[in-house]
Amino acid sequence: MSRIELSWPGKASAKAEADSTEFSEFHPVSSPLRGVVGARLFPSPPQLPGQRHVLLEGDNLHALRALHAAGVDYHFIYIDPPYNSGQTFTFRDSQGGADPEAAWLGFMYARLVWARRVLRHDGVLFVSIDDRQHASLALLLSEIFGKENHVATLKWRKKRKPSFLDSHCASIIEYILVFARDAKQLPRFRGEATEEVTRPVLNAANGECVRLLRRGTEARCPDGRYAKGAYVNRTLGLELLDDARVVGGCLASEVRVRGRFRVSQDILDKTVFLTPQFGLRRHVLPEERSFKHITDDCTDWPTNEDAEAEIRRIFGARVFDYAKPVGLVRNRLAMCPVKPGAEFRCLDFFAGSGTLAEAVLAQNAADGGARLFTCVQSPDLLVAPSPGLGTIFDITLARANFALRASDDMRPLDVFSSSPAPSVPLKERKHNARRAGADAGNVGNDTKADAVRPRGSARSRAHSRAGAEPGVRGR
Ligand SMILES: C[S@@+](CC[C@H](N)C(=O)[O-])C[C@H]1O[C@@H](n2cnc3c(N)ncnc32)[C@H](O)[C@@H]1O
Repeated sequence: MSRIELSWPGKASAKAEADSTEFSEFHPVSSPLRGVVGARLFPSPPQLPGQRHVLLEGDNLHALRALHAAGVDYHFIYIDPPYNSGQTFTFRDSQGGADPEAAWLGFMYARLVWARRVLRHDGVLFVSIDDRQHASLALLLSEIFGKENHVATLKWRKKRKPSFLDSHCASIIEYILVFARDAKQLPRFRGEATEEVTRPVLNAANGECVRLLRRGTEARCPDGRYAKGAYVNRTLGLELLDDARVVGGCLASEVRVRGRFRVSQDILDKTVFLTPQFGLRRHVLPEERSFKHITDDCTDWPTNEDAEAEIRRIFGARVFDYAKPVGLVRNRLAMCPVKPGAEFRCLDFFAGSGTLAEAVLAQNAADGGARLFTCVQSPDLLVAPSPGLGTIFDITLARANFALRASDDMRPLDVFSSSPAPSVPLKERKHNARRAGADAGNVGNDTKADAVRPRGSARSRAHSRAGAEPGVRGR
């Protein structure tokens, strides 16, 4: 691995954060949809989250350390971290401090080191970032994961209509940096399935042998009797060693066939059919389907406008700014091959509105996958809470529940919190959030930018930021 390092003021303390294994304990809380969940205190015993979806309320550095201590690892991690824009949306997009770039690098460094630790050896990490932070992030990731594990940088067109308000050059492209834990072990990405649904079973170059066509084999040729003997279809011939009878579109008895077969008897039994011209062909098995190659051009994927419509559809208002569109996350899930029914664990530790949860369930429904989601989100209070939504985590939870309710997925959703009062966190938080909203005079209003009140900070600070930044550029 290269010894080139990025340096910034405070890197030593970021390294100390990355070395520390301490974490706040996560307690089970009840989920409105699935009842009381999380039978034991997390992280002991170390057996999570096999066969369960998980939401973790708390700081993601603690959550990552806790997941690692619990022995959990992930096939797929997607994060959409703060972009260090200096602005505040529903969430704070920066770490603040005298040197915001150094603060952001330190914040990201420790979390990315821990992300690598919870990534499987054949796993992959996707990180969304804008053009301004892209260079720093790429260096940081190369330092932590190794440049040789930089798999790709996807280019995503984030909006259809550019805004020329605040810059010399309107920005419409974002990046998705893709790093593997070990690029040599990462399965190849795949694009859409190719159209091929049937294949030949004979090949002139193969040797002759005798195979059986079982009774009940699908027959697309007309019903009737086909006498034993030679049949030639295009240039390929086969010899029927027994008379064949087709009744109701099926072979009525077992028939021996001599030919230059390219597939085993086993594959033939599962897939062969008689063509309309009394030739042989077979269906392609799901595990044999081939896929197109993908490129790093993602400029026709769903956009921020689509994401906003998705949030409005669920919540009836823009309760969260700059969520990512479900399609963007689904496309990346679809790129990563999964075996039917096999566990495939997906993590987003900057979960925001919980787009990953919805994307995982939608992609499972589309391709029969058994992916599981883990979403981590801190309980930052919303300045403009609405009924039932006091914190950003409440939004994550509500969307995960919404998506589960709309799906056929009956696996449990476990919800854990590192909040100090585990027995009453949701109720208490909502009460506090409602008070905060009443103070701000905008309870139930459509949440706009600058709507977050980070824990422990003064509401006035959030508002003065809003006032100080007229014409702020969006994400
Ligand atoms: C850009 S948003 C992610 C949006 C998300 N991709 C979506 O589609 O909704 C980043 C999120 O990370 C959360 N966040 C920031 N720092 C965090 C931390 N230390 N622990 C947990 N969540 C954090 C913010 O509150 C915010 O909701």
